[in-house]
Amino acid sequence: MEQMNAAVVTSFGEPPHYQQFEVPQPTTGTEFLVDVLAVGLHPRTRTGAAGAHYTSTGKLPMVPGVEGVGKRPDGKKIYFVADDHSLGTMADKAVVDIRRSIELPDDVDVVKVAAALNPAMSAWVALRRRVPIEPGQSVLVLGATGNAGTMAVQVAKRLGAGRVVGAGRDFTRLNALSSLGADEVVLLNNDAEETARALGAAAAEVDIVIDYLWGKPAQQTIVALLARRSDRSRAMNWIQIGSMAGPTIELPSVALRSANFRLQGNGQGAVSTEVYLAELPSLVEEIDAGTIAVKANSRPLADVEKIWAQPDAPGERTVLVP
Ligand SMILES: NC(=O)c1ccc[n+]([C@@H]2O[C@H](COP(=O)([O-])OP(=O)(O)OC[C@H]3O[C@@H](n4cnc5c(N)ncnc54)[C@H](OP(=O)(O)O)[C@@H]3O)[C@@H](O)[C@H]2O)c1
Repeated sequence: MEQMNAAVVTSFGEPPHYQQFEVPQPTTGTEFLVDVLAVGLHPRTRTGAAGAHYTSTGKLPMVPGVEGVGKRPDGKKIYFVADDHSLGTMADKAVVDIRRSIELPDDVDVVKVAAALNPAMSAWVALRRRVPIEPGQSVLVLGATGNAGTMAVQVAKRLGAGRVVGAGRDFTRLNALSSLGADEVVLLNNDAEETARALGAAAAEVDIVIDYLWGKPAQQTIVALLARRSDRSRAMNWIQIGSMAGPTIELPSVALRSANFRLQGNGQGAVSTEVYLAELPSLVEEIDAGTIAVKANSRPLADVEKIWAQPDAPGERTVLVP
């Protein structure tokens, strides 16, 4: 059997090892083998490699990586999404189903696309498909200082938001959001009352909330916003996307009865792969044109074990290059 280099998880809880692995083989007429060019090390990838994502099969050994940029046998560059099984994309080669891929421009910056597409697509798809934003509507991004949150601020503005409020716990990165389009920022600090007052003052009237945090901050924000809202019968659409601050919340039933509060999520399952793929070409254009800022940190795949536990530098996304 032909071998390749790959990041291989042999035990959940340990970082992947860089080692030889059997080259996967296409099994259907719609599959083909690609040379992998770049793969982003996203939170979703880490959760999958820990066996902790809701789509995890628990099978080992596994190659992590749920998507990536590759080169088809005909030389065309593509962005592709892997199937939910144990053979991921952090390897020299990957099997791709043509129906889960889009073609990229020949001169595209593959590292930039690998860094940005996963975090940027969350808000892009949320605001175009889950709750299509209307021109001039206002948006709160909860968890705005991370990669996805920072891009959500820019995406919301690009898609016509009239006002964007960013909320996060890091003062310096929060303030940097003003230059990326945030009209106002709110610091989430340990003083719950002060935070609630600031959130209420800045964001009680928003139309849409894009939430990357969940947990305590989301719970407190829901109550803070609804308590200060002038017309609670006006829809507030909450789009749950990430759970950096915790997997669950306590939601008072009165929040749903006393206000037109609409809670939905955006992610694999809530939106079909077909819809994601249909949205990606326009997002690639934005990333390529630089309208959504990206800081990629390109590292060799051979270093995967060493860098796995290192957090990204603020505002950066690590990209592994085979
Ligand atoms: N559903 C989807 O389609 C989709 C797509 C992309 C991402 N996501 C999810 O969205 C989330 C964010 O992704 P990302 O790429 O932006 O990750 P990231 O770049 O690592 O950023 C995570 C952010 O969360 C903040 N954070 C963590 N714990 C917090 C807490 N307790 N309170 C307040 N802030 C907290 C961090 O702040 P500090 O820097 O201060 O620690 C950081 O700014 C992840 O859960 C990811 O899986 C979902």
